[in-house]
Amino acid sequence: MRRTATRRHYLMVRPTYFDVEYSINPWMDPKKPTFTEVAVAQWEWLRNLYLELGHRVEQLQPRSGLPDMVFAANGATVVNGQALVARFRHTHRCPESAAYLRWFREHGYRNVRQARWINEGEGDYLLAGPRLLAGSGFRTNTEAHLESQEFFGMPVVGLTLVDPRYYHLDTALTVLDHDTVMYYPKAFSASSRRLLEELYPDAITASDDDAAAFGLNAVSDGRHVVLPQAATGLVGQLRERGFEPIGADLSELLKAGGSVKCCTLELRAGQTEGPRHGR
Ligand code: ARG
Repeated sequence: MRRTATRRHYLMVRPTYFDVEYSINPWMDPKKPTFTEVAVAQWEWLRNLYLELGHRVEQLQPRSGLPDMVFAANGATVVNGQALVARFRHTHRCPESAAYLRWFREHGYRNVRQARWINEGEGDYLLAGPRLLAGSGFRTNTEAHLESQEFFGMPVVGLTLVDPRYYHLDTALTVLDHDTVMYYPKAFSASSRRLLEELYPDAITASDDDAAAFGLNAVSDGRHVVLPQAATGLVGQLRERGFEPIGADLSELLKAGGSVKCCTLELRAGQTEGPRHGR
């Protein structure tokens, strides 16, 4: 089966001030040294890859004192030109919201506001065809799910995360195309697992090792799937299903508990774009 890529539009934040200064997830150890220039080089590689794949990439200016700002996925959720800006759980990241609010207002988005409830953007909201899959358990509140459903006017399917290593939905599940996902079952509560099995009987499921390699923190354009290269099992499973996996080394950013998807916020203007041939 041949998969079709569609051209995407992403927002990214250069890790100019990247560091691990505090710990708000189990991956972060402020005692471990970090190398900002390595983070920047790895991030530049990812940005160039998106451009090579034919995607458009916008940049929001990083701010000093906000070392997690590189994780653009957390800044907002954008569907049909409507942007619901994050309200972060931890005070360390709260000032990031203002930068996103300003950016969307300056770039002509028609409906922009900050979420009332704690909501970490595309870290916990993944658009899957006609519905938004929404995580809770560690960051985003379940009240935020209802708020998002009202804001976007589309059904929100709540999923409960139970393993602190997989604290955002985008660390436990990847949307590969409208109706295909891959996920790590053990990251979810028993009832959320049943829900996922019912919605996606043909899903790819990740092994313990692939999940721990952050393999589900991946970005798909419908054909190319950019994922941490250490997730070798998923690379094989994706190939078998006709996807084109592309391994990324974002080891420096992993020290903060982030990888490919965390660095990538998808901008969905609402216009329909025709299918495009991959490389
Ligand atoms: N250190 C950041 C935090 O804990 C990492 C965020 C990763 N982003 C993501 N979309 N999963 O908030």
